Parts: sequence; C-alpha cells; structure tokens
Amino acid sequence: MKTISLYLLVLSLLIVISCKNVVNGTCSDFDNKTDSILALMTLEEKIGQLSLFTSEMDQTGPFIKREYEEEIKQGKVGAIFNAYGADYTRRLQEMAVNNSRLKIPLLFGYDVIHGHQTIFPVSLGEAASWDMEAIERSARIAASEASAQGLNWTFAPMCDIARDPRWGRISEGAGEDPFLGSAVARARVRGFQGDDLSSTNTIAACVKHFAAYGAALAGRDYNSVDMSERVLRECYLVPYKAAIDEGAVTVMSSFNDINGIPATMNRYILTDILRDEWHFSGFVVSDYTSVTELIQHGTVPDTAAAAAFSVNAGLDMDMQSAAFSDYLEILVQKKKVDEKTIDEAVKRILKVKYMLGLFDDPFRYCSREREEKELLSDENRAAARDIAARSMVLLKNQGSVLPLDKMIKSIAVIGPLADSKRDMIGSWSAAGDFNKAVTVVEGIRAKCPSARIIYAKGCNIDDTDQSKIKEAVAASRNTDLTILVLGEAANMTGEAASRASLDLPGIQQYMAEEVLKTGKPVVVVLMNGRPLTITRLNDYFPAIIEAWYPGTEAGNAVADVLFGDYNPSGKLPVTFPRSVGQIPIFYSEKNTGRPSDPDNKYTSKYLDESNDPLYAFGYGLSYTTFSYSNLTLNRNEIDANDTLIVRVTVKNTGKRKGEEVVQLYIHDRVASVTPPLKLLKGFVKTEIEPGEEKEIVFKLTAEDLKFYRGDMSYGCEPGRYDLLIGGNSVDLISSEFSLVLPL
Ligand code: BGC
Repeated sequence: MKTISLYLLVLSLLIVISCKNVVNGTCSDFDNKTDSILALMTLEEKIGQLSLFTSEMDQTGPFIKREYEEEIKQGKVGAIFNAYGADYTRRLQEMAVNNSRLKIPLLFGYDVIHGHQTIFPVSLGEAASWDMEAIERSARIAASEASAQGLNWTFAPMCDIARDPRWGRISEGAGEDPFLGSAVARARVRGFQGDDLSSTNTIAACVKHFAAYGAALAGRDYNSVDMSERVLRECYLVPYKAAIDEGAVTVMSSFNDINGIPATMNRYILTDILRDEWHFSGFVVSDYTSVTELIQHGTVPDTAAAAAFSVNAGLDMDMQSAAFSDYLEILVQKKKVDEKTIDEAVKRILKVKYMLGLFDDPFRYCSREREEKELLSDENRAAARDIAARSMVLLKNQGSVLPLDKMIKSIAVIGPLADSKRDMIGSWSAAGDFNKAVTVVEGIRAKCPSARIIYAKGCNIDDTDQSKIKEAVAASRNTDLTILVLGEAANMTGEAASRASLDLPGIQQYMAEEVLKTGKPVVVVLMNGRPLTITRLNDYFPAIIEAWYPGTEAGNAVADVLFGDYNPSGKLPVTFPRSVGQIPIFYSEKNTGRPSDPDNKYTSKYLDESNDPLYAFGYGLSYTTFSYSNLTLNRNEIDANDTLIVRVTVKNTGKRKGEEVVQLYIHDRVASVTPPLKLLKGFVKTEIEPGEEKEIVFKLTAEDLKFYRGDMSYGCEPGRYDLLIGGNSVDLISSEFSLVLPL
C-alpha cells in the first residue's frame, strides 16, 4: 500500500513539475511536456485520451452516462462535449483529476457557433456584414461566455464553402466564396482563440467539416461529394487552410466521402494535405459517430476496421463512436495499428490541453463569478444588437419606403415569424434561451412606444390553413403600414435540414399577397438561413430586408434598421437564385465556349429561366447611395515583385451617413485553365458621410494572381487582367493591367 502511495505521489509531482509555466511556451516546450507525460502512460490511458463522449440532459439537468463516469475516473476519456455550467464542468473535471492515475484534465467541447448564451446572427448572416471586426467581436464574446461556463473548446468555425442553398447547413458557414470565407474564418479563429489560448476567456477553435462537406450532391445533407482536385484546392480547401494558418488548434473530419473515400478515413485529406502540406500540428476529431458510419459508407466491414482505417489515416479523436476505446488496444496487439500512431495522436491532444493551461489549473474555465457577471450581460446584448443590424441586407427599397418614420401612428406586424421567440436565434444556438430573445413585434413596440401596433400571425410557417389570413388583412387595413415577417422556421436550416424547394414554406406567399391587396405600404422582413427563391416577393413588394436569424436581440436590431437608426450595410455572401433549377449558381462562373446569347439557341442558357440570379453575390442596398469613379492604377504592368496600387473614389451621393463594402474582383483574360469571369480579391468596408468622397486603396501583387495552373502547379501566369471594382459583383467599373514574368 505504502509503495503505491509513494508511486502516485512521485507521478503527481512529475506531472506538476512538467506542467508548470508552459502556457506561453514554445512548441518544443510543449513537446517536452507531452513526451514526459506520454512516457508515464499505459496503452489504455493513451487510448482514453482519444475518446470524446457526450453529456446529456433530462428534466433533472445535465448528466453523463454511468459508464462514462467510470471511464473518466479511470483516465479513459479525453474530452466531454455538450457539458457546460461552471459547477457541472467542475464536477466532471474533478472526476478526472481527483481519481485518474495521471490526473490528466478533460477538454470540454460544445457547438458555440454564433454565440453562447447571448446569441448573434447565424453565421451566414454574420458573413453578410462583411465586417471582420464585428465577426471577431462576436466570436470573442461567445468564447468569453462559453469559457465562464467551463467550456474550453468550440466546434467552430464551420468553414465549408456552400453553393447549394438546398443544403440546410449553408446557414452555418460564410457562403460561396473562398476569399470572403477565408477572411471570416480567420476573424472567427482570432475571436475564439485570442492571442493567448491559456487566457481564461479564450477557447480552442475547431475547423470543420474537413473536407468539402458543403458540396454534398443535390444539396442533400450527409450525401457524397465528388469534385475535381482543382475545384477542391482552388475553392473548398481555401477557408480551412486560412483558419489553420490563423492558428486554429483542432480540425473536425466531415461526414461525407470525397471522391469515394470517406473523409474520416481519408489519408489524402487528413495526412497528405493537412499534415504534410499544411503542417497542421493540432489534433483532428471525427464528427459525431463518423467513425462507425464508415460501415454504412461501405468502405469497412466492421467497427474494428473503422477504428483502424481512421486512426491510420490521421484521425486523432473519436467523437461518440466508442470505436477507438473498444478496439484500438486489440488493434495494436494485432499489429493493425502501430502504437506510435497512437502516441502521436495523444501528444497532439495533450499539447492542446497544455496550450489551454489546463495542466496549470484544470478548473481555470469554471467560474461561477464570471458566469453570473458575464452571461447575457447588457454589454453583450448591445453587441449582439449592433452585429445583428450590421448583418442585415436591404434587398429592395422601391420609392424609398424605408426607413420608416418613428412618428407613425399605427403599424400592423404580420407573419408567422413576427412574434416567434423560438425562431429568432436560429439553429445551433448553443446555450441560448429563446425566451430571452426579442421578437420583431416587441422590438417595434419598444421603438415606437406611442404607435398603435397590431400583431396578426396570418398563417403558420409551414401549413395550408388559411383561417388566419382574414385577421391579418383586417390588421393591415386598419393601420398605416404593414410589416410582414416571413421566412423559414429556425429548424428548417442547420443540420439535416435540406430542402428541395426554396420557396417561402406553406401559404406565406399567398397570405402576403392577400395583405398587399389592402393597398397599404408593405415592408417584408425575411428570416431564413439560406437563399430563398423569392422572385414573386421581389416582383410585388416594394421593400425587402434579409434579416437572417438575427439572434437574441433580433427584434431590436430589425427595428433599428427599419426605422433608420442603423443604415443597412450588409451584402450577400451568397447568390440568391431565381429558381431551384439554376442551382448551383455562383458569381465566379466561367465563360464557357458558348456564353449565353439571346439570339443564338446553341449557347449556354435555359429555355425557361434566365441565367441571372435574383440577387447577385455582394449585393445589398443602403438608405443612401454611393458612386464609384477615378479608378486608377499606379502602373499598367507589374512583375513578380511589384505592387499594384489601386485607387478608387467612392462618394456618398445621398443624404445619410452610410457604410459601403467596396469590392475588388479580377479576371484573368487568358490562362492555362478556363478562368472565372470574376474572382473576389479584396474588399474594404468603410463609413462615408453624406456628400463625402473617400479614396479607397487596394494593393495587389503577383501572389494574389496565383491559381492552380494547367499542370496543377500553384503559381501565376503572365498576361492581361481586368480589374473590376464596385459595391456588388455586377455593377462594376473596370481597368486593366498586365503581369509580366521572365520567360
Ligand atoms: C455536426 C457537427 C457538430 C457535432 C457535435 C454533428 O452532428 O455535424 O457540426 O459539431 O455534431 O455536436
């Protein structure tokens, strides 16, 4: 007995000594520490570090299964997810560090995607702000609230490019473009992780879903992905790489197969690209049971093979499949998995735990005091309101119906989403409580306390019952102005929420048109997490605002925009199609050998639909107007070492202060690979006073012109380029320059 106690004492001392002062340490510090712990670990304990299990919730509160509890005590669990709360995470952490032999702390992961308790707009909405400072601020607040509740790891940012709005998870990303997607991914990583991962208000980020999950065939969730190496590299991989370059310490493998090999066992993706090309040194976690799902994919016969193939491909941690915990030991004994592979995975996971400072103090993220002070604080709510307003996109404002006059006497607020708290915070709303959300009806009442506000639902989101329409029409008739709040229920976007139709669900369109017949001015506020085919709305209604799911402060932010306290500045991060048949439709299309010509049947077009989108990428109006002029380049030729300095004058030609997103696109006229007609290469969001002219400056180098050439090498090619600048991807002024390279 005495010898055992002495042994434990020495072990703990060793760990304490090896774990001190490493939080700001260098890589080799971390490596030395992880090596010293690894040397003490049994194979079983090592495999334990590779397992991630879920916490659950019932009427009595959060709990974990008895079997996991035992395993935590024996040091056979590396991380828990879906557990939060300072007291609860402390209790689980105590289980690990007070009972297990090596006292290795647990990671606590959770899907903190667009806020923790204070909920910000869904990610696609935030991306529509094109405001990287705002996006970083939102992630920082989310990290701060989450870390006060014991969390130290978020399953975000989701960096999947998505060009098919049928896919419900398009709402979780930054849209269709790799350049914008990369900027957003970087901002989120900076927000979550800050400068120092060991600070008590920063958490580890997880880049997901690696790779190309957003390209699910036919927009059906979990479906196969099949794409050329070229498209994979020039588009889909770009934002993941940006997030990793920004320092994200974990990556999540995706559910889908890519060109026949499921990502979770795809060595090319998880090792050749991620480790060997990109030098990623953090760890890779599977998606939820994606290890055992390899059996359904049909690439392995059983769970043991699933564990072997995935760990050998480069997967470090198994989320919820229990395949690693059940089979890795025997696989090592049978020499199907080398223990060194497991050692590497353990080291990567321990390193992240060190970086988070968990070995210094495993309870550093569980703070009741911070929990009480920070969660849903007035300050955080104010930030959520500001960022929600920044995310909204003014799609139409015919006859300047908007902004509304606060002195208005009466307003009808109509629609299934007008007063639905549940839908305001969107899907993946972490620990957000929808009861705390402000609806549009509430926001308008607060904005116009002396106006008579009549609310009528009009119809449910997704049914055919027309009985409530009469009441809505009456409300509209008896008031000066109508605000229609239409769209999708929050659970119609996010995971497992693919749609084959992108029309407004149910009878909303019909209800809206009945209301319009009253002849009163009508404004439409849309709430949805994807582009919708709202051609009829656009045809008939004078004013439309895309509000996405705005979050906890939804109604206040909508009211701020409607009444002009915030002048809308959002721009679409994704193309809105006219009809589902146009999908996939995105701005960076190619010319083809037969570009559309109305006078020639044998050109690239539809018989029954235009090629043009309803609203283009980068599009969004303001309550003011901007003009573009004086596009000048410092030279009309650059070589590999020159910098092209691009200047453009943007003038606020209206009467209100406003923000404009100035967008720069390039077009390579002739290349070894069919070039896209436009590619976003820069943007600046800037505030301009009425009548003011601002000079916006961009700098481009040969580096910005690189692409995967005909032979798949990455580089640029000499030739003539168009340079296009404007406030969206269609209305552009242009110039040109040449890139000259030595032969
Ligand atoms: C989703 C991930 C998520 C995970 C954990 C999965 O179903 O695909 O995005 O992080 O669950 O909640």
